[in-house]
Amino acid sequence: EIDKKVASLLSEMTLEEKVGQMTQITLDVVTKGDNQYSSALPYELDSALVRKAIHTYKVGSILNTPGIPLSRQDWYKTIKIFQDEAAKTPRQIPIIYGIDAIHGVNYTTEATLFPQQIALAATFNRDLVKEVAKISAYETRASSIPWNFSPVLGLGRNPLWPRLWETFGEDVYLGKTMGVAMVEGYQGTLGDPYTVASCMKHYLGYSVPLSGKDRTPAWIPERELRQYFLPAFKAAVDAGSVTLMINSGEINGVPVHASKFLLTDVLRGELGFEGIAVTDWADINYLHTRHKVAETIKDAIKMSINAGVDMSMVPHDFEFAELLVELVKEGSVAEERINSAVSRILKVKMQLGLFESPVTDPKDYPDFGSEKFASVSKKAALESFTLLKNKEDVLPLEKGTKILVTGPTANTMRSLNGGWSYNWQGSEADNYAKDKNTIAEAIVGLGNATFVQGVSFKEDNGIDSTVLKEVSFEDQKNIDAAVKAAQQTDVILLCLGENSYTETPGNINSILLPKDQVELTKALAKTGKKIVLVLLEGRPIIFNEIEPLVDAVFMGYLPGNHGADALGDLLYGLESPSGRLPINYPKHPHAFVNYNHKHSDNISIPNYYDSDYDQQYEFGDGLSYTTFEYSNLSVSAEEMNEDGSIDVSITVTNTGSRDGKEAVLLFISDLYASITPEVRALKGYEKIALSKGESKEVSFTITKDELSFVNQELETIAEPGDFEISIGDLKKKIKLK
Ligand code: IFM
Repeated sequence: EIDKKVASLLSEMTLEEKVGQMTQITLDVVTKGDNQYSSALPYELDSALVRKAIHTYKVGSILNTPGIPLSRQDWYKTIKIFQDEAAKTPRQIPIIYGIDAIHGVNYTTEATLFPQQIALAATFNRDLVKEVAKISAYETRASSIPWNFSPVLGLGRNPLWPRLWETFGEDVYLGKTMGVAMVEGYQGTLGDPYTVASCMKHYLGYSVPLSGKDRTPAWIPERELRQYFLPAFKAAVDAGSVTLMINSGEINGVPVHASKFLLTDVLRGELGFEGIAVTDWADINYLHTRHKVAETIKDAIKMSINAGVDMSMVPHDFEFAELLVELVKEGSVAEERINSAVSRILKVKMQLGLFESPVTDPKDYPDFGSEKFASVSKKAALESFTLLKNKEDVLPLEKGTKILVTGPTANTMRSLNGGWSYNWQGSEADNYAKDKNTIAEAIVGLGNATFVQGVSFKEDNGIDSTVLKEVSFEDQKNIDAAVKAAQQTDVILLCLGENSYTETPGNINSILLPKDQVELTKALAKTGKKIVLVLLEGRPIIFNEIEPLVDAVFMGYLPGNHGADALGDLLYGLESPSGRLPINYPKHPHAFVNYNHKHSDNISIPNYYDSDYDQQYEFGDGLSYTTFEYSNLSVSAEEMNEDGSIDVSITVTNTGSRDGKEAVLLFISDLYASITPEVRALKGYEKIALSKGESKEVSFTITKDELSFVNQELETIAEPGDFEISIGDLKKKIKLK
């Protein structure tokens, strides 16, 4: 039905109209002044520019936010102006507006901000992640925006990379299952007014630039591309994701925006993706100006459209539209290619119901920014905090314990939220989340705590300056003051980590904890007080030097607007921690190895060389305040055929003295294989809640898929032989016949 409507509409369209549909501009193009990077300028649409974009250039898509958040009502008014203009065009095709609501709606003050993706991964709770995505979709659509550039499906495998926190961590299985949960949560049944189109990012191999710097070259053998990087996209395509954004970088010397192999042969031919492939920011132009594979912008357009790009995030001008029309007229780009791109765009607009309802009425979204939604955000934060060390059970704290809260991440909403929070770099978070608690506010609010800044980002890593929240606590910025205050308390809550950032501005030259944070820790340790370290950071910052000085470690990632309140509950034992690391936490700056490494990664020569696989903490690590015992690991059969399956079950018992949640992780090791096998790989996980004394059985099903890998001929196969299944400390062998 939809396909027929699309074909009929397409048959009426002029070439200029079609090319306009393929053009996506940034909001700045139609506003007075340059709003995007500026929080100073008032945001105001310029009606002449709006008309120029929509009528003269027939633009079909707009993206982005101004430099500061708008109210929900203002979003409604803005999108309505665009849609009203679009309704006056001959074909009345609605605009599709896109946004990065990657951890909830970050572009209005009233909406709900959730933990970032890396933290969501740490929950190991798919249902919760789906719920988070569903709420984000509801709030996004409530501001008349139907397209969310999320989730990120790349693997966070290089700690230097400034977007690691936008991923679900380093593991293929975790990434693909969480990705599917998010796509399902966003899209629900497309067309329902509470859903949005998801956007799989950034196809393919964006997350592992060799230098660790954003958008720099990656070198990934095709076998690895297929085994590690493609599965999450395949799973999300199968789950029905209708749009995809392309990697700005180059792989093996070929920019992905120019790769017909990746954009057409693999994406369309193998994965069967039928939705929209949109470029990232100005990436067609970069084929000429940055990657130097196209001698002119026109060549770049020809190259990328012929490779399979459907929509260009231009974003600033109309050159793309003008030159693409010329290219088609000259015969350098076939009209057939344009038709397939435009059909996909029209189809998604129809699937979203934009032709019938181009805007939504804010009044129909009564739960927007509600307490109900905030409690889901807090729940996600609670389940993400990962307790990595708890020497002599220093945690949970007794009520009444005197606490000093200190450190650069203690009193800022930026470190709780990270980038894409109120603006691109998250630098407005302290101005717009004033009603939410920083860690200092939350803990001092619970009583018996004082706050002293100790060190702040101003003297720190230089990424950006921190706008400190206006709080009534003493706002000291020197180490001596923190030490003095520590002497009066029982426990120090030391909050270290990073300021907010994303993309290229988040590049760093060192993954080591900045010097003044080390200095602060050492000075505090001399007081002899217990130290509970909380890390708010988007990537694992190496803190090996001070780890022995602290008694407890909480990896907090970027837990969102309700993260500080969640931390308060965890510190005082109102809740037991249940997060697990979705990444390896490296110990040394030149020894990054993933948990599913090869056996030969573990070579060490005593007295000469420690293995690179000497991690501070490992993928899957995470402690609880209670204890869980695993028993009765059993398999339904010890052997299976290629088309068979084996059920695995295990009993988990809460043997401690508190209720708690446990993420049960199943790993498989292929013992011998024609491609060197990984030591183990995650192939199943389940989050369960157990009251003290309670037992539950958890089951998994193993099929050929869980035993497969990509061989030298680039085929996905499972080789006959022995495999070891492990859950907790228990192991069982199975055989594939
Ligand atoms: O969606 C983002 C992408 O992840 C990075 N560059 C800009 C896009 C649109 O904001």
